[in-house]
Amino acid sequence: MKILGIETSCDDTSIAIMEDDKVLVNLISSQHFHSKYGGIVPELASRAHLEVISPLLQDALQKSNLKLNEIDAIAVTTNPGLVGSLLVGANFAKGLSLKYKKALIPINHIEGHIYSGNLQDENLEFPLISLVVSGGHTAIFKVNDFTSYELIGSTIDDAAGEAFDKIAKLMGKTYPGGPIIDKLSKTGNPKKYDFPRSMKTKDNFNFSFSGLKTSVRYFIEKIFPNGLEENDLPDIAASVQKAIVDILVYKTINAAKKHKIKNIVIGGGVSANSLLRSEFLSYTSKGYNIIIPDMEYCLDNAAMIANIAYFKLKNSDLDSYFDYEFTVNSNAIRA
Ligand code: KG4
Ligand code: ZN
Repeated sequence: MKILGIETSCDDTSIAIMEDDKVLVNLISSQHFHSKYGGIVPELASRAHLEVISPLLQDALQKSNLKLNEIDAIAVTTNPGLVGSLLVGANFAKGLSLKYKKALIPINHIEGHIYSGNLQDENLEFPLISLVVSGGHTAIFKVNDFTSYELIGSTIDDAAGEAFDKIAKLMGKTYPGGPIIDKLSKTGNPKKYDFPRSMKTKDNFNFSFSGLKTSVRYFIEKIFPNGLEENDLPDIAASVQKAIVDILVYKTINAAKKHKIKNIVIGGGVSANSLLRSEFLSYTSKGYNIIIPDMEYCLDNAAMIANIAYFKLKNSDLDSYFDYEFTVNSNAIRA
């Protein structure tokens, strides 16, 4: 079974082709130009998707040495995300599926992240705890198998990536701020400043990051009334990063303990964070099986979309996916 995956939910255009659960090609075109606006501009994001999606598909077909009529099904992200961006991918997918008479499978982007561990480790074991942590989402899921999962906690305000981005902005840095804070932290002292770890209770798996952002703002105004110098930044960055990572690890490990689960999979853009990776990986010595996929599968990518479609098709009939009556929406998975 060859599945074409299409992902355009935010600011990455991605096309992948999978043969069963093996990735043949996974191409990602990222829209770096948003950095000069301090964040993603939705209208510009959709226009940029439109410009690159067709050449990216041609590139993917060429690299995998396939033609569109050799594809069995098309999987596309339909929610959640920026509606304009989602529409570009969904309409492109609908057009292809009508022209080439292919099954079309609408996919939830978060499900893509939840099961992305399978792209890394083909022997993915269930049940598992999945932490999805990006600029748009921060959530913990208990995943029973490829068809069943439950949301056990999510952010009540900002996502962790959003906190990195907004705090980097307070420090005078550009979007996306996460990688900048990560880099600055390498020469900083994480114990220098004590920023809050919100909602740090054992039996609650929700997150809150807007208080951290506010406290960093007041802290900068109070301690550095004349503005920040470049050499003030590493200690602030390292202390902020430690506060965010501490709470992400604490809640995820507690969720795993509560449910007596040893398999933990991390996904989403923030899983690029070096401290997050090392802190989670340190739990392998305590008997946990920690899976952090390669970066191309942690970031928004179409392989994770085609991957879900493959498992959906294993449990259903290809014929049931010729109903093109679906639309896109921005709704996230709610408890
Ligand atoms: O998954 P992603 O590419 O897009 C979505 O938000 O869906 O994630 C982007 C987010 C941004 O907030 C960015 O600052 C954050 O991931 N990020 C990081 C790092 N690399 C990317 N955050 C912390 N440390 C990093 N190294
Ligand atoms: Zn994502």
